[in-house]
Amino acid sequence: MPRALVLGGTGLIGGAVAHRLLQAGWRVDVTGRDPGRMPAGLAADGARFTAADRRDPEQLRAAFGTGADLLVDCACYTAADARLLLPLAQASGSAVMISSKAVYVDDQGRHSNSDASPEFAGPVRESQPTMAPSDIDFNSREGYGANKVAAEQVLLDSGAPVTVLRPSKVHGVGGTRPREWMFVRRVLDRRPAVFLARRGAGIDHPSAAANIAALVETVAAVPGRRVLNSADPDAPSGRQIAGAIARHLDYQWEEVLLDESESAGTLGRHPWDSVPPIILDMTAASELGYVPAGDYATTVRAQVDWLVSAAHGDDDLVRSWMSDGFFDSLLDYAAEDRYLAERGRSAQP
Ligand SMILES: NC(=O)c1ccc[n+]([C@@H]2O[C@H](COP(=O)([O-])OP(=O)(O)OC[C@H]3O[C@@H](n4cnc5c(N)ncnc54)[C@H](OP(=O)(O)O)[C@@H]3O)[C@@H](O)[C@H]2O)c1
Repeated sequence: MPRALVLGGTGLIGGAVAHRLLQAGWRVDVTGRDPGRMPAGLAADGARFTAADRRDPEQLRAAFGTGADLLVDCACYTAADARLLLPLAQASGSAVMISSKAVYVDDQGRHSNSDASPEFAGPVRESQPTMAPSDIDFNSREGYGANKVAAEQVLLDSGAPVTVLRPSKVHGVGGTRPREWMFVRRVLDRRPAVFLARRGAGIDHPSAAANIAALVETVAAVPGRRVLNSADPDAPSGRQIAGAIARHLDYQWEEVLLDESESAGTLGRHPWDSVPPIILDMTAASELGYVPAGDYATTVRAQVDWLVSAAHGDDDLVRSWMSDGFFDSLLDYAAEDRYLAERGRSAQP
């Protein structure tokens, strides 16, 4: 039975990869720092958890043990992280490093974490220019993509059989910041309307963790040194994302499609509001034999069900999503109520 080691295997992407490989008959070991993050379902399916800090060389080596047919790193953020991974990657049948589409820049040097959104001429291919590598704080808007580039280069230049995957906005069960919560919460609160800035036309390509997992399984069978985009087979707009979630929850709301002049402040804000759109070209993955697990509307259902069930019984989890203020501006009901009241309408369903 082939063995896979998934570093950061208790998280959103790592958990989906572990599930997929277990179903395909792999023996799967996952690591993380906090045993409390090990999903019960993953343990029940046969994954083994080892507590190991990704930045501690000895713990990393101990988790690797005598070797792995597939090594997947979901916690590689810097060149230093990549250098620690190298001896393991060189001793693996195939290795996968999860990078990000945040590495890409447009012809003005803008990237997905810039103040000004990038303007790509069309679907972004893997040959699109990237940020310059850097070792400034990776946990910053300028540092995240630049450090990922530095990490990618260490691995790709080494000659090891490393596939770099570049996902976009990831959705699935188990994320620490589940963006779709902004629509699920509204349904649970029985809000009468959903507000969408710029008519909800913005697109920032979603990547189902289940689709990333399908691509990992594909590349495991064809080890190589390459970069691949990893996003859903479709690229829905913010309006289509809201609609898919409402349909799955069998809820009807009025869509308030705000034009450009009304799309200021928090009203209608959503995480997919990129105009022009950010879409990843998936040709290279397809040519390797990758078959996605499903489109956005299909793959998002598991996450939506998980969010609903958390809302009905896991207050600590919900509090953790709300704790850093990310959702405050996305769930600004007061601003929406004012908008409706000014037009003589009630916020009650
Ligand atoms: N989520 C997105 O939208 C997105 C988009 C593009 C790219 N990515 C990339 O995808 C990768 C995985 O993201 P994710 O969303 O799956 O993250 P996640 O849900 O936060 O999971 C991260 C995993 O890594 C582990 N981890 C973090 N730091 C660690 C350390 N120092 N040592 C050992 N384990 C560590 C976590 O467990 P513990 O906390 O218990 O250690 C957890 O298992 C990241 O590299 C990220 O940059 C994510």
